[in-house]
Amino acid sequence: MSEPSDALSALLHESRRFSPPPELAQRANAQPGIYAEANADPVAWWEEQARRLRWATPWDRALEWDLPFAKWFVGGKLNVAVNCVDRHVDAGLGERVAFHWEGEPGDTRTITYADLQKMVCRAANALTELGVTAGETVAIYMPMIPETVVAMLACARLGAPHTVVFGGFSADALRGRILDCDARTVITADGGYRRGAPSALKPAVDVAVADCPGVRRVLVVRRTGQEVGWNDGRDVWWHDVVDRQADTHTAEMFDSEHPLYIMYTSGTTAKPKGILHTSGGYLTHVSATHRLIFDVKPESDVFWTAADIGWVTGHSYIVYGPLANATTSVMYEGTPDTPGRDRWWQIVERYKVNILYTAPTTIRTFMKWGPELIEGHDLSSLRLLGSVGEPINPEAWIWYRYHIGGDRCPIVDTWWQTETGGILITPLPGITATKPGAAMVPFPGISAAVVGEDGTPVKPGNGGYLVITQPWPGMLRGIWGDPERYRETYWSRFEGCYFAGDGAKLDEDGDIWLLGRVDDVMNVSGHRISTTEVEHALVGHPSVAEAAVVGANDATTGQAIVAFVTVLVSWFRMRWAKVLAPIYAVCEGVGLGAISGLYASQFSGIIPLAIIFTAGVFLATLGLYRTGLVRVTPRFASMAMIGAGGLIAVGILSLFIALPIFNAASPLWAIFGVLCLFIAVTNLFVDFDYVQRAEAMRMPAEAEWASAFAMMTALVLVYLSILRILAMFAGGGGRRR
Ligand code: WTA
Repeated sequence: MSEPSDALSALLHESRRFSPPPELAQRANAQPGIYAEANADPVAWWEEQARRLRWATPWDRALEWDLPFAKWFVGGKLNVAVNCVDRHVDAGLGERVAFHWEGEPGDTRTITYADLQKMVCRAANALTELGVTAGETVAIYMPMIPETVVAMLACARLGAPHTVVFGGFSADALRGRILDCDARTVITADGGYRRGAPSALKPAVDVAVADCPGVRRVLVVRRTGQEVGWNDGRDVWWHDVVDRQADTHTAEMFDSEHPLYIMYTSGTTAKPKGILHTSGGYLTHVSATHRLIFDVKPESDVFWTAADIGWVTGHSYIVYGPLANATTSVMYEGTPDTPGRDRWWQIVERYKVNILYTAPTTIRTFMKWGPELIEGHDLSSLRLLGSVGEPINPEAWIWYRYHIGGDRCPIVDTWWQTETGGILITPLPGITATKPGAAMVPFPGISAAVVGEDGTPVKPGNGGYLVITQPWPGMLRGIWGDPERYRETYWSRFEGCYFAGDGAKLDEDGDIWLLGRVDDVMNVSGHRISTTEVEHALVGHPSVAEAAVVGANDATTGQAIVAFVTVLVSWFRMRWAKVLAPIYAVCEGVGLGAISGLYASQFSGIIPLAIIFTAGVFLATLGLYRTGLVRVTPRFASMAMIGAGGLIAVGILSLFIALPIFNAASPLWAIFGVLCLFIAVTNLFVDFDYVQRAEAMRMPAEAEWASAFAMMTALVLVYLSILRILAMFAGGGGRRR
């Protein structure tokens, strides 16, 4: 691994310490004995956490570990949705708010646990009616609205693993994920609000699903009311099918290892990995970490994870963790700067948020916007702050603490990954004296180490790789459909250890500082993006020949994507397909037709006619190639170039020789000469590689029609020319002037 950058070594000289506030420490859910307790018997400690959930059948064995495959709470049965919702209603908490939801335009909804139970039951009944059964994957492509949570929980209730695809992803990405996990049902919305305007989702689903023969049904929530394309046999409105269902549903209990969801994440190759999470262990992990790290007091706290549900942070700390703990959460649909840059602080003030969990990128953005935006708001309800997704630099940490946390809220910098399911390295707010920029120590029940190249633990003060040395309940159960890739990616680098792909440093006190990825994975605003994936997307564009992508340090987003691109064609040629092709094709048809007709009738010599004929055929064929209907072989391309060259000669001939000799007075001659030259020269610029790539892009229909017209005209006139030649031979010469 390379040495930490200057900024990071500066970070390692950070000597400030922030002790837990005494009142918080005294009432904290995690008390100092917790580490010793967990260390004494980690598996037993996790069992204790699991017992806080409702199990229909208790487990026989807490852990089955066949490296690298783990099973937790083997033999136990539970239903994740029942644990997140029904359990709390049964305990008399039906009136507690589960979500204070706020849409970007300012609309709000308050959803209690009793409401949520009814919504989830109705959705589960609807999905059953649509044919969803246990074990069948459902893809969810939604904005940040309550129905997204309801859809996830309805799937969990039915034992149908969901795969939530972030709403910012393209149709391509969605298609790849639907196909990879063989989803049969897609749940989406017409759109969602982002940056003050409706942003459509359904069109991407239509494009994606067109190539997914396995998809039976698309269930569409109406959120923005925008126009949507509709496929009658396939698409159904959420309000048509969900709203009329019964609001009760008898949940089946599933094995602790029953798949709960698949979350796709970037790796070092272009193909994203489907990370599989299962039920009992995952729910145990996320609920325990949520309760202990965020010190949540569900009866009084308002908790806000300001992340998108399309990422693992949303899964674990908007949906499953908080709901398993009967927490009241805030959920916000839009961007932090809509309509004003103080939107978040209005929300904190309005709902009296106590715990805020967000990413360093957002904090750095707020730093850039300036503390004045915050000062006008009452943020005194906040009592704890969390950070996730990327290393937090001490400046941002300190700014977070002073400007948002009023110098009273502890900050928990939580390290984890899509693969880990829940937080693994973190301070505990009532115990740990934190250091700005350090994720500190493994969570109770977690064994981690920083190792060198040879896999042996480094001494304090040294850097290396972060590994997890024992299985944990929330760990991924594999890569969907690819156990070998799972073993290879995570378990092959260091014998018997899970290798996270992150560099880390152990400081003199033995605390852990994360240094970022050591592989080709970039971390942009806390989102993992592989360089290969971006390279593939770039070279997929018709005008890109080659691309190389690297991550560069960025003051706001942590890393930024830098792409080195070799462009295949100029702007002119890039626009060619849509704008210029139809014009050229028409010119070509008219010009070619007129030239061959006129020359055929004017000339007597056989040589110019032969030239015109050859050039005409080449040119006409080129017209066809331009539509992308026919493939161009390199040899034909060069022949066509020669043809175009021939036509240039003819053009020059008509302008400078034919014109004075034959009919200098006719302006038509000059026009045809110019046209001829124009067409010939532009033909030389045709980029054949581009034409081939353009096939994939599909030409606009006008270009195809125009080209077809050109071809027809050309063929008719070439035919007339042949007739003329024949007539010349038969009659001893054509008309002469
Ligand atoms: C990085 C997000 C430093 C890390 C939950 C990891 C962090 C990747 C932290 C996982 C942190 C996450 N400090 N780096 N507190 N949290 N990371 O799968 O590089 O989207 O490997 O999960 O984010 O990103 P993922």
